Amino acid sequence: MDTRNEVKVQEEYIAKLRKLNEGKNLKYNILTMGCQLNENDSEKLCGMLEEIGYSKTDNVKETDIALFNTCCVRENAEDKLFGKLGELKRLKEEKGLIIAIGGCMMQEKHITDKIKESYPFVDIIFGTHTLYKFPEDLYRAIEEKRKIEDVIDVDGEIYEGLPIKRDSKIKASVTIMNGCNNFCTYCIVPYVRGRERSRSPKDIIEEVKSLAKEGYKEITLLGQNVNSYLRVEKEKNIPIEEYEGVNSFATLLRAINKIDGIERIRFVSPHPKDFTDDVIDAIAGCKKVCKLIHLPLQSGNTKVLKEMNRKYSKEQYLNLVDKMKKKIPNLTLSTDIIVGFPGETDEEFEDTLDVVRKVKFEQVYMFIYSRRVGTPGDKMPNQILEEIKHKRFDRLKELVESQIEENNQKYVETVQKVLVEGESKNNPNMLTGRTDSNKVVIFEGDKKLIGEMVSLKIVSEHMWYLKGEVNE
Ligand code: 5AD
Ligand code: SF4
Repeated sequence: MDTRNEVKVQEEYIAKLRKLNEGKNLKYNILTMGCQLNENDSEKLCGMLEEIGYSKTDNVKETDIALFNTCCVRENAEDKLFGKLGELKRLKEEKGLIIAIGGCMMQEKHITDKIKESYPFVDIIFGTHTLYKFPEDLYRAIEEKRKIEDVIDVDGEIYEGLPIKRDSKIKASVTIMNGCNNFCTYCIVPYVRGRERSRSPKDIIEEVKSLAKEGYKEITLLGQNVNSYLRVEKEKNIPIEEYEGVNSFATLLRAINKIDGIERIRFVSPHPKDFTDDVIDAIAGCKKVCKLIHLPLQSGNTKVLKEMNRKYSKEQYLNLVDKMKKKIPNLTLSTDIIVGFPGETDEEFEDTLDVVRKVKFEQVYMFIYSRRVGTPGDKMPNQILEEIKHKRFDRLKELVESQIEENNQKYVETVQKVLVEGESKNNPNMLTGRTDSNKVVIFEGDKKLIGEMVSLKIVSEHMWYLKGEVNE
């Protein structure tokens, strides 16, 4: 069946469930783990549930559905899920709520086996390729009163037209591609999200245009490897229907840059090996594209990078950074780093510190290597002792924090354009927003400024945020 027809079938299940639930004032609670792609998937799950007639609650004690959208990139998410399921057992016995678990972790057989064995009270298990079918799975669980397991292992299709309930009215994420073909040896993603496939230019452009009409100001384009947007389609000679000149990632940036109302464009994550000159030129040439670029390093050592199957060397990474810095005025960079990959020696780890010292990242997301069943990394000899991994992590953290402190000083006394996102969580008398470089800025101001771009003079820095004043 055509994917659009399959979405229509789900609309019928939504209507049936809405009728079934009429007047019941039902609630759902959702816990999302992992990356922004998962958050975007959760917004789709929330959209479906709200159309069915459920409203969101943060209080799991009063919920009728407890939904988990899981991640399996690192082990700590598993511990978190099993901990939460343990807590829910009593609530399930008392109230009979529906428990549904979806997302990446459900694509792993050893995990679903464990859930069925140790947490048999879970009602619905669904994977990454069957998210669009959640209304049908929910209907079956309620009407047929049976356990549902809906996990398939395919390359995966793209389903357009699912309802969506977005978390923000100012910033929106737009998934432009699914899956990954890179097979970095530490990473589970290619096994749980399937092969790379891109959404059509028309679907993306039209989604961004309608977001602009709804008043959204910032768009984040999402994908496991955004700068290879449409690459697989080209390699396989799958015809691409160009729309507003879009036939690559660079042309996509340029087309979105022209959409009135959108003021900022971000994207995560690109892969350094695919960072072509046309993309660099598009970033430099598009006023709305933020000049903070996330460029995952993973390791600064050429041998480790080879073992990781990253397809670039330390020098190639540094050369790319130099080229980008030359071509893109005001460029700032953020990155992901893994410490303790199998076989990484102290000396090799020093190379990672060396790259961090040289590049001076604006932000570094640091991870301790986590063995993932089914990945080549898990089978490698010379796994690093936890103790050594932690020591390396602490050294990296110390370096990164000292650099951030130093970097923060540069903001003081400057004027920054800030997109105001809302009241500050810690102090409702203050507003919070972000700079182009994604730094949080807190300031005093009229609530009418929420959703606006304002000029702020930075008056002080505080490690993880800056303080500003409206610049009159
Ligand atoms: N262990 C630790 N970190 C990992 N990442 C991906 N897989 C692993 C793993 N097995 C990190 C990478 C990636 C980020 C999203 O998560 O740095 O860029
Ligand atoms: Fe994982 Fe590498 Fe693909 Fe990123 S590019 S999702 S790290 S395999």
